[in-house]
Amino acid sequence: MKKKEQTRRRVAVVTGAATGIGAAITERLAGQGMHLVLVARDGARLEVHAKRLHAEHGIQVSTLALDLSHQGAPVRLAEWLAGAGIEVDVLVNNAGVSLMGPVADTDAARVRGLIDLNAGAVAELTARLLPPMVARGRGAIVNIAGTGAYAPAAYLAAYAASKAFVLSFTQAVWAETRATGVRVVAVSPGPTDTAMNTRRMPGKRAPGSVADTVMSALRGRGPAIVDGRLNTFQTFVFGRLLPASAAARIAERSLRKAALGN
Ligand SMILES: NC(=O)c1ccc[n+]([C@@H]2O[C@H](COP(=O)([O-])OP(=O)(O)OC[C@H]3O[C@@H](n4cnc5c(N)ncnc54)[C@H](OP(=O)(O)O)[C@@H]3O)[C@@H](O)[C@H]2O)c1
Repeated sequence: MKKKEQTRRRVAVVTGAATGIGAAITERLAGQGMHLVLVARDGARLEVHAKRLHAEHGIQVSTLALDLSHQGAPVRLAEWLAGAGIEVDVLVNNAGVSLMGPVADTDAARVRGLIDLNAGAVAELTARLLPPMVARGRGAIVNIAGTGAYAPAAYLAAYAASKAFVLSFTQAVWAETRATGVRVVAVSPGPTDTAMNTRRMPGKRAPGSVADTVMSALRGRGPAIVDGRLNTFQTFVFGRLLPASAAARIAERSLRKAALGN
């Protein structure tokens, strides 16, 4: 990407950009003529996706292969962007992993890795890329949470807790930045048909629907949006009406079979 062009054209950075919800978001942003920086671990897959986006939309696309769960990865991304002279207009923190099963049976390092990616990298990238946006008085950060953010979920304990962090963190930063011209918002998909969620379940949404919700979140004003009406209703019931203990027990019953096979 040429430095001069970067400074005058709108650029979006999307993490977890070559698959599922992230790929659908890059399609929408590319459709708006934004240049893109795609980040994920699998550099070859990012390249294939970048070439396609460039061919179909005529935008410039850069890729950076990074494991964002590694300490130091967010700073590497921020330094790479600065080195390339890229001013970030939109950051979409989408990369995430899930982990199903009882915590007692789960490798502790995987629990930690999930938190480092789903929560740690989201917070650090927000903290690193927000200041220049505030200084310019424009920009947007979309953090992908999930309906799991709204209540504790047995067998998805670390995952749901990481998403609760993303939701709470983003809502607070939204309040801090309301008067700055920078848009900060959390988008919570429910079950969505991607590699992360291959379970058969009713009401599953398409990644493109979530991407549409992200685009409308960018135009909106509130701190948090849930994708889809059924998911919105469920987050209201599980997050507001039921006590957390009841929500956790219901999740335990409904996910037991998927998690334990009995
Ligand atoms: N699918 C659902 O039902 C659902 C529901 C609620 C919320 N979400 C959230 O939506 C987001 C996107 O998930 P998805 O459903 O689209 O699943 P996905 O297709 O598996 O996408 C996850 C993306 O994150 C990237 N990623 C994973 N680990 C990474 C790491 N350590 N460093 C950098 N990138 C990493 C993956 O690319 P690499 O493997 O190349 O790194 C992949 O592109 C996640 O935050 C997820 O929690 C999904």
